[in-house]
Amino acid sequence: MISSNRKLPPGPIRLPIVGSALQLSIKDLPQTMEKLSEKYGPVFTIYMGTRRVVVLHGREAVKEALIDQGDEFSARGVLPLFEKIFKGSGIVISNGEMWKQLRRFALTTLRNFGMGKKSIEERIQEEALFLVERIRSTHEKPFDPSSFLIHAVSNVICSVVFGDRFDYEDKKFLTLIDLLEENNKLQISFWVQTSGWPYGRSLGESCGKSSFTVVLILIHFTTEKIHKEIDSVIGRSRQPCMADRGQMPYTDAVVHEIQRFMSLLPLNVPHAVTRDTRFRQYIIPKDTIIIPDLRSILYDSKEFSNPREFNPGHFLDENGDFKKSDYFVPFSTGKRMCIGEGLARMELFLFLTIILQNFTLKPIIDHKDIDISPEVCSMVNMPRPYQLYFIPR
Ligand code: HEM
Repeated sequence: MISSNRKLPPGPIRLPIVGSALQLSIKDLPQTMEKLSEKYGPVFTIYMGTRRVVVLHGREAVKEALIDQGDEFSARGVLPLFEKIFKGSGIVISNGEMWKQLRRFALTTLRNFGMGKKSIEERIQEEALFLVERIRSTHEKPFDPSSFLIHAVSNVICSVVFGDRFDYEDKKFLTLIDLLEENNKLQISFWVQTSGWPYGRSLGESCGKSSFTVVLILIHFTTEKIHKEIDSVIGRSRQPCMADRGQMPYTDAVVHEIQRFMSLLPLNVPHAVTRDTRFRQYIIPKDTIIIPDLRSILYDSKEFSNPREFNPGHFLDENGDFKKSDYFVPFSTGKRMCIGEGLARMELFLFLTIILQNFTLKPIIDHKDIDISPEVCSMVNMPRPYQLYFIPR
C-alpha cells in the first residue's frame, strides 16, 4: 500500500453526486476528453457520478500504462451492468486468476478451431458466398445492408463455435441476434456502465442500430481503385483469400483507414488498476477506473497528416506500398487487447473484397450529401443508417 505523497492526476472540479458531469458532454465523450487533455495534460482525473476515472490520452501515456506497467493496468473497470448480468464471470469483465484462465482458454480454443477440419478463413469464405447470393437476391433495389452484414458476421462465429451456420431466415438465429442487439444497446452507454446512472436506456434507444458495417464510408469514396486491384490480383472467377492481401496494398490501406477513421471503441473498454499504482508523478489508488483513450492515438496528427479526413494515404508510402503504423490500435494493446483481432481483420478483408468483386456500390443520394462521420454514442461509434444500390458487375 503506498500511503505517502498521495497525488492524483489533475482534473476538473468534482461536485457532489454528479462528479464532473457539468464538464462532460455525454453525446461526445471522445471530443470532451480531447478538450480536457488540452487543459490538464495527457493523464487526468474525472468523476463519473461518484466513480473516480483516470483518462490516458495519447500513445505515450497509453503505452506506458498498458505495456510498460501492463500488470498493474490489466484489471477490467467495474461495469455495474456487466456485473449484474455476468456476476464477475466471463472473459471481458473477469479479473485475477479467473480472467487469466479464461483468456488462455479462449486464445487456445480460437487457435485450435482455426486449425481444425475447416480453417477460420474457409468458414469466412463459405459465409461470404451466402452473403453475396443474398445481396444478389435484392435485384438492385436499394437497401440498408447492416442486418445482412450482422447476420454474416454472427454466422461466422456460429460456424467456428458450433461447427455449423444458420439459414438467414432461421427463427432461432434471428431471435438470438435480436437479444444480442438489445444487450448491445444497454451496454454502449458509458454512463450506465461506469456510474450506474439511468442514462443507458435512452441513449441505447437513440443509437441502437449496432453494426459492424463500413460500406457507407466506401460508397462516399471512389471504389474504382479497389475494383482495379481486385481485377488484377484476384480476377472475377475465384474467391478472394487472405494470401491476396499482400499484393493489394491499396485495399489493405482502405481497410485500415476505415478502422482508424471509424474508431469503433473510441474510449476502449474501461480498465482498472490492480493495486495502488505509481504512474509518472502520480499515485492512482487501487480499483480506479482507467480509460486508455484509443481515439486520441488513432487521430494523432503527428502520425496521420489530416486525422479528421478519410484518406487511405495514411497507410501508404510514397511508392504506394502498404505502410504499417504503431498508432493503429483499434483493438487496443497489452494484456487485455482484443482476442478477436485476427478473426475481425480476416472478415473485414474477405467480406469487403468479395462484395466489391461482385458489385458496384451506388448511393441513393448525391455523394456530397453523404455524412460519413460516425454517430457517436458514448462508448461505441456507429455508422449512420443508410441505403444503397448493389449493382452486379
Ligand atoms: C472490428 C472488430 C473489433 C474491434 C474493433 C474490437 C476491439 C476490442 C477492444 C478495444 C477491446 C478492449 C481491449 C482492452 O481492454 O484493452 C476488445 C476486447 C475483447 N474482444 Fe474485441 N474487437 C473486435 C472484434 C472482436 C471479435 C470478432 C471477437 C471474438 C472473437 C472479440 C473478442 C474480444 C474479447 C473476448 C475481448 C476481451 C479481452 C479481455 O478482456 O481479456 N472482439 N476488443
